[in-house]
Amino acid sequence: MPVSRLAAAAIAILLLGPVAARAQNVDDGADSFDANCADCHSVSKQLKNKKGPSLFGIVGRHAGTVAGQEYSPANKGSNLVWTPDVLTRYLASPQALVPGTTMKFKGLKDPKEIADLVAFLEQQK
Ligand code: HEC
Repeated sequence: MPVSRLAAAAIAILLLGPVAARAQNVDDGADSFDANCADCHSVSKQLKNKKGPSLFGIVGRHAGTVAGQEYSPANKGSNLVWTPDVLTRYLASPQALVPGTTMKFKGLKDPKEIADLVAFLEQQK
């Protein structure tokens, strides 16, 4: 029966498509993290600070609260909470969201790369 086979294929795509897409995103996000962030940030459970603060558990955290990190007044006073939405804006242009931040990173242009990176960061907890 071609119709039911078509329906089965449609259901398979509906069920498997998002799962595959999600896994892909996180992998791409990990690659982006290694390329753009890992020089200055760690995501290890040991909460290791490099030039920048540990990003383990970053999603949902208040800005400027990692022990042992010397933050700029701009970051500390920003009163931001790093939700996925705020991170998305920050990673497009850290200086635009937090003027005066000492994070020397000009931002990422590609919205998909930012989305993948945020998906990766959400898993670091
Ligand atoms: C050249 C070093 C450097 C690079 C590259 C860098 N950062 Fe940072 N990052 C910092 C520093 C330093 C701070 C603290 C900034 C301040 O106090 O103003 C920071 C702060 C942050 C914060 C705020 C953390 C908090 O606790 O408030 C986030 C989130 C962040 N970085 C994410 C990233 C991501 C994701 C990338 C990669 C796309 C990245 N950073 C690339 C150095 C860097």
